[in-house]
Amino acid sequence: MVLNSDWTIIWCNKLAQQLVGLRWPQDERQRIDNLIRNPEFQTYIQQKQFEQPLELSSPVNEDLVLEYRMLQYGDDQHLLIVRDVTQLKLLEQVRKDFVANVSHELRTPLTVLQGYLEVMDADNLPNAAIWLKAHTVMLEQTKRMDALVQQLLTLSRIEAAAKVQFEDHIDVPAMLAMLEQESNTLNREKQHQISFSIEPGLLVSGIREELRSAFSNLITNAIKYTPNGGEIQVSWVRQHQKAVFSVSDNGEGIAPQHVKRLTERFYRVDQARARATGGTGLGLAIVKHVLQRHNSKLMIFSEPKKGSSFSFSLPAENLPKRKSIKAR
Ligand SMILES: Nc1ncnc2c1ncn2[C@@H]1O[C@H](COP(=O)(O)OP(=O)(O)O)[C@@H](O)[C@H]1O
Ligand SMILES: [Mg+2]
Repeated sequence: MVLNSDWTIIWCNKLAQQLVGLRWPQDERQRIDNLIRNPEFQTYIQQKQFEQPLELSSPVNEDLVLEYRMLQYGDDQHLLIVRDVTQLKLLEQVRKDFVANVSHELRTPLTVLQGYLEVMDADNLPNAAIWLKAHTVMLEQTKRMDALVQQLLTLSRIEAAAKVQFEDHIDVPAMLAMLEQESNTLNREKQHQISFSIEPGLLVSGIREELRSAFSNLITNAIKYTPNGGEIQVSWVRQHQKAVFSVSDNGEGIAPQHVKRLTERFYRVDQARARATGGTGLGLAIVKHVLQRHNSKLMIFSEPKKGSSFSFSLPAENLPKRKSIKAR
């Protein structure tokens, strides 16, 4: 908006009307500090120190954060530029929370390790039973920290790489065959029925390691969060022009209020239990990022007590020359 030297409004655009709640033309010639009735704003224009912008919540909507910048305009007029910085503020908050969370997550296992190490010094060696217990816990906690650091590195690698070359003809069926073997090892304790239904020759282009990490995270979660002896279905099928990956389980399911937050970093439905299973709460955040980079989106359907289904789709590659497809 353009303001006179006496702070009356000469002109404003549509967006200024929306953000600040001006009515036009009724508010023409009104003083701006009568309309933005905020002591901070009044001080701002009285002191005329306009090097720094001013941030305030919008007079029409508490949840909007607006940034006001005053510029000299001609000899005795001012241009007041109002910008909606709500998203920016939100991102800043997310980043702060993230750092706080990382520190907290790393400190917990460190505290445990330190606790054990402190009671064990050369003059005070514990007996075998205590030592065995301590050793088990310390090993667990070290693994946990290692997993955390690894996943954090994966996340930052995915975020940092701005432009990435997509690789063509990624043999997802072969990749899933490998993951099937790995999941059998993981499944030894839980004894689920896991069925893989994989369409041969269904290839995609993308970033190989990232896709593997997405598939693996979703399969691992189904195995981990389904009570022993459950049923898990993994499928990779063509639907029209799409290749669709899905993992369904008949586990405990997830309540709707959690579902929408699952892909946030460190978000776990049951903090204590997830920690006991060695979870970091970063897996689905990684999946979300990977899919974003592949212009895809994670779909989650879940019903408490019934089970969950995680799926996403990628553009199916048209089959390359016949002879290059391995028969399976
Ligand atoms: N198949 C599933 N069934 C039930 N809950 C799940 C399933 N997959 C994920 N979750 C929930 O989502 C949370 C976040 O998953 P994830 O980001 O992979 O973190 P982590 O597995 O390291 O805890 C888990 O802690 C769990 O509570
Ligand atoms: Mg996980």
